[in-house]
Amino acid sequence: MISITITRPDDWHLHLRDGESLRAVLPHTAKQFARAIIMPNLRPPVTTVDMALAYRARILDALPAALQSAFEPLMTLYLTDNTAPAEIVRAKESGVLHGVKLYPAGATTNSDAGVTDIAKCYATLTAMERNDLPLLVHGEVTDPDVDVFDREKVFIDRILAPLARRFPGLRIVFEHVTTRDAVQFVTEASRNIAATITAHHLLLNRNAIFQGGIRPHHYCLPVLKREMHRQALLAAATSGNPKFFLGTDSAPHGQASKENACGCAGIFTAHAAIELYATAFEQAGALDKLEAFASFHGADFYRLPRNTSSITLQKENWIIPEQFDFAGEPLIPLYANESLNWKLI
Ligand code: NCD
Ligand code: ZN
Repeated sequence: MISITITRPDDWHLHLRDGESLRAVLPHTAKQFARAIIMPNLRPPVTTVDMALAYRARILDALPAALQSAFEPLMTLYLTDNTAPAEIVRAKESGVLHGVKLYPAGATTNSDAGVTDIAKCYATLTAMERNDLPLLVHGEVTDPDVDVFDREKVFIDRILAPLARRFPGLRIVFEHVTTRDAVQFVTEASRNIAATITAHHLLLNRNAIFQGGIRPHHYCLPVLKREMHRQALLAAATSGNPKFFLGTDSAPHGQASKENACGCAGIFTAHAAIELYATAFEQAGALDKLEAFASFHGADFYRLPRNTSSITLQKENWIIPEQFDFAGEPLIPLYANESLNWKLI
């Protein structure tokens, strides 16, 4: 049997939801990842340190007994036009908040309370720069006149590049990059700028959304892009460049919200996250680069210790279940009913 053992990875971008949904999805992540950056786009969004502390307690409470000490949630704040600089100081002092998430208002699921104009946040961003609290960015403009496939590139030009110039000391994670343009921007930017890459953007291009009909389970934001962009992401992820690291953006929605005349954006990948990344890295002939991408680069960027335990993946053909339970509703995972060649043991 062929197997690979790597340092236990972390997920630097994860949606866990809340309540019974949280209980349903959390074990999938905790069985493979030691830590995860928890996205704050709940309803209502996690806009204060107190809310983040309460959410953290609910996550720890939802962990199954066997995984109690095996998983640590790394909390984030949801940036609004009104986030006070004093809240940033409190966040830093808490020791459990590791970033502040910028959602341009209306860009994606539960982003209505997001930022309407980045200039409204300059005082808060100054506080983040001073307190060394990273900014995590959903990098898409919301301008309806901009083509949905171009929204990331336009965001770089209009928002991100000027922001990085204005706040050179601010550490920024460009989340779930999907284009060659984003890879190039991050590669050429200062060492304070890094990016997460999802498994689905490494494995699929935009044809997957229309394969024989419309495929709601392949719809996420930022939307899948052309093959040339997928190739650029794969090259970045497998390059060994420490600016690129694993962030699944696993985003569960119940079956009825996905298979809908106006389906929600989000792909659930937590059920087999590290196996999906291993599949993509193997296809690129770069399995030897998986460990640094999954287990070192993110920890180093966030200035957290690397994990010391390990996981093992075995080369084994297995079929992904057709659905999981999501608080009484079906949750359709990526590659439902399809086979994968790597299995976490
Ligand atoms: C995410 C969600 O469902 O919360 N959806 C998605 O398509 N990725 C939000 C996000 O990260 O954009
Ligand atoms: Zn996300």
